[in-house]
Amino acid sequence: MMFSRALFVSVASLAWTSKVLGRCRTQPGDPGFPSATDWAAFNNTIDGRLLTVVPSAGVCAQLNCTEAQWTSSVFRDMMPGQMNQDYDAVPPELCLRNGTTCAQGNVPLYAVNAMTTEHVQAGIRFAVQHNLRVAVKASGHDGLGRSTAKHSLLIWVHSLQNITFTESFRVGGRDLGSAVTLGSGVRLQTIYSAAEQVGKMVVGGTIATAALGGGYIQGAGHSAFSPTLGLASDNALQFEIVLASGEVVVANDNSHSDLFWAVRGGGAGSWGVVTSVVVKTYPTFNATEYDVSISLPSIDAISSVMTSHAKHVFEWGDVGQYYTISAAPQGIIMTFVEYFPNTSAAGAIALMEPFWEEVRALGASVLSNSTTTSIANELVRRADDAVAVLTIQGSRLIPAKAYQDGPDGIGQVHGQLIDMGYVIIGSVVAGGKVAENANISSAVTPKWRTAKSHIVLLAIWNESTTATEVEGIKEAMTTRAVPLLANATGETDSGAYSNEADVREPDFQTTFFGGNYARLSTIKAKYDPQDLFIVSVGVGSERWDEDGLCTV
Ligand SMILES: Cc1cc2nc3c(=O)[nH]c(=O)nc-3n(C[C@H](O)[C@H](O)[C@H](O)COP(=O)(O)OP(=O)(O)OC[C@H]3O[C@@H](n4cnc5c(N)ncnc54)[C@H](O)[C@@H]3O)c2cc1C
Ligand SMILES: *[C@@H]1O[C@H](CO)[C@@H](O)[C@H](O)[C@H]1NC(C)=O
Ligand SMILES: *[C@@H]1O[C@H](CO)[C@@H](O)[C@H](O)[C@H]1NC(C)=O
Ligand SMILES: *[C@@H]1O[C@H](CO)[C@@H](O)[C@H](O)[C@H]1NC(C)=O
Ligand SMILES: *[C@@H]1O[C@H](CO)[C@@H](O)[C@H](O)[C@H]1NC(C)=O
Ligand SMILES: *[C@@H]1O[C@H](CO)[C@@H](O)[C@H](O)[C@H]1NC(C)=O
Ligand SMILES: *[C@@H]1O[C@H](CO)[C@@H](O)[C@H](O)[C@H]1NC(C)=O
Ligand SMILES: *[C@@H]1O[C@H](CO)[C@@H](O)[C@H](O)[C@H]1NC(C)=O
Ligand SMILES: *[C@@H]1O[C@H](CO)[C@@H](O)[C@H](O)[C@H]1NC(C)=O
Ligand SMILES: *[C@@H]1O[C@H](CO)[C@@H](O)[C@H](O)[C@H]1NC(C)=O
Ligand SMILES: *[C@@H]1O[C@H](CO)[C@@H](O)[C@H](O)[C@H]1NC(C)=O
Repeated sequence: MMFSRALFVSVASLAWTSKVLGRCRTQPGDPGFPSATDWAAFNNTIDGRLLTVVPSAGVCAQLNCTEAQWTSSVFRDMMPGQMNQDYDAVPPELCLRNGTTCAQGNVPLYAVNAMTTEHVQAGIRFAVQHNLRVAVKASGHDGLGRSTAKHSLLIWVHSLQNITFTESFRVGGRDLGSAVTLGSGVRLQTIYSAAEQVGKMVVGGTIATAALGGGYIQGAGHSAFSPTLGLASDNALQFEIVLASGEVVVANDNSHSDLFWAVRGGGAGSWGVVTSVVVKTYPTFNATEYDVSISLPSIDAISSVMTSHAKHVFEWGDVGQYYTISAAPQGIIMTFVEYFPNTSAAGAIALMEPFWEEVRALGASVLSNSTTTSIANELVRRADDAVAVLTIQGSRLIPAKAYQDGPDGIGQVHGQLIDMGYVIIGSVVAGGKVAENANISSAVTPKWRTAKSHIVLLAIWNESTTATEVEGIKEAMTTRAVPLLANATGETDSGAYSNEADVREPDFQTTFFGGNYARLSTIKAKYDPQDLFIVSVGVGSERWDEDGLCTV
């Protein structure tokens, strides 16, 4: 014990020197990188919860996993080195499922499988002492690769699974009403079930494994029920956070209120390690889900349908709606999934009928049409998410004003983007309570408050696509597709939702955070002065290279 302590001190001073001179994180092969003895001693301080991390394909080679496991977010959630997308599949650093080769790529080297806040603190202190690159992961759902980092020590919060309901959550003597405390590893599917058992509902996404208290709520968090209940971060009452100093703080309206402001919308992974979050709960309610899938004869028909959609979108009250448009060899397919709170199936159908009448007249064939009326928790709870798609995304928040002023322009851009080969996922989840909550003081970009929808573009490739082709696909997203979508906002300073966006967004500071960026930078400097928590396109990331390993 005494021996390893002495070793820690000398290694730490070496690391400090190399950091000051080189301004880089310590990497394997560097003189300051922890030895096997250091890792073993550290492991002893965290109850043996240190893991070596194996990339997704390496895990599959070891377990001989099935295709169903490979594409399952539930399966991937169980392992620290598995993300929902394979950021390790980057040539020449390939890891292959047939087990012939497995490079580490962007996958962390070690993980702290934290069971307690103390484990997180110990991990952070070890990383700081040795100047290590840190990654933080809850579910690995992130589509921007922010929950993995090359040569890093991962703080894996997956095992923080506490759930505690209360009828009166108090902050500074004030009763803020019914709420739930959630460990930051708890999946949305688990939360919806637990809440249903006590007759409650929370604001969350229609995603199986994403963790409400992880990156989801730090980015803002949208839900099918946001038009009635607000964004997830609007419903946050308190966070417990392990800072870069190793200290644990409680952030709420009364304590560390600047950090509380930042962590609600100021971007995932930039503030510290969230160990738990307290969010408001609501009495659960019934809702109707109305699903329709159609096929269309032409690109022009897409433009016409989406123009009609833009003209009718304000008639549907508090609906939360998702639509997907894709052009497959067998034709153009559009699916619409709508959630109507406190509404019967007949009521939902009647609200939508004027739109559907126009769409049928435009030559659409209805492929499927169904309604389900049930407790809201059941409607949005997913058993699994299909993942492992090789993809890049880009997005914009579309203002309500753009729908009012230029429905034809909105229709047209949908047709153009499908013609260019993109898949479009529209989330009509703003307006209503999201707009009314503009007076909540948080870092959520004001663009959410004036938006009607959030539109995501996906470009998808496969394992036979070459590295040069992939680069071309990424380049086209940033320089052609996103600007075209941005034009449809009618704004010259259009905004986007940081959790579902282009990781190469050129002016991310303004696009994701608007006028809040300066204050976010100040708060970052106060709570994370050494930039321990750096993620792509996150606050402070402009000071670091793409891997977050050296300052630029
Ligand atoms: C299929 C799919 C559907 C989606 N649907 C929605 C939706 O309906 N609404 C919506 O708002 N978003 C949606 N998203 C986006 C989602 O919000 C992001 O993927 C989000 O990053 C998930 O958070 P996570 O913590 O579960 O993921 P992770 O990949 O584990 O982490 C994401 C980011 O948060 C950080 N992080 C995670 N845990 C912590 C922690 N405890 N402390 C500090 N930082 C942490 C990570 O470092 C990383 O930067 C969807 C994504 C997918 C892939
Ligand atoms: C940490 O210790 C546990 C318990 O002794 C052991 O099972 C595990 O393999 C160790 N982790 C590493 C990375 O060596
Ligand atoms: C791997 O699984 C497949 C079926 O999923 C089986 O056919 C094959 O024999 C297995 N291989 C090994 C080495 O276990
Ligand atoms: C393993 O997979 C790679 C890539 O698909 C392929 O080139 C290689 O031939 C495979 N090797 C074996 C032994 O199957
Ligand atoms: C989980 O809850 C138990 C019981 O309330 C508590 O002792 C423990 O500290 C909690 N764990 C975390 C990580 O908050
Ligand atoms: C939901 O509807 C069912 C069936 O009509 C009813 O029994 C139940 O009380 C309703 N639940 C709520 C929370 O309104
Ligand atoms: C559903 O209706 C109940 C009873 O009128 C109301 O209290 C609740 O706020 C409504 N919920 C939503 C999400 O609209
Ligand atoms: C779906 O079915 C209902 C009745 O079952 C009908 O009223 C409605 O028009 C149909 N929707 C579409 C898009 O055709
Ligand atoms: C915001 O305004 C609404 C009324 O529009 C009010 O009910 C609510 O309390 C206000 N919230 C804050 C945080 O000021
Ligand atoms: C991969 O994508 C290309 C087009 O980019 C396509 O031609 C090919 O069929 C796809 N391969 C598989 C296995 O899906
Ligand atoms: C959108 O594009 C049109 C035509 O190129 C242009 O006139 C308009 O100024 C653009 N709008 C924005 C907000 O960039």
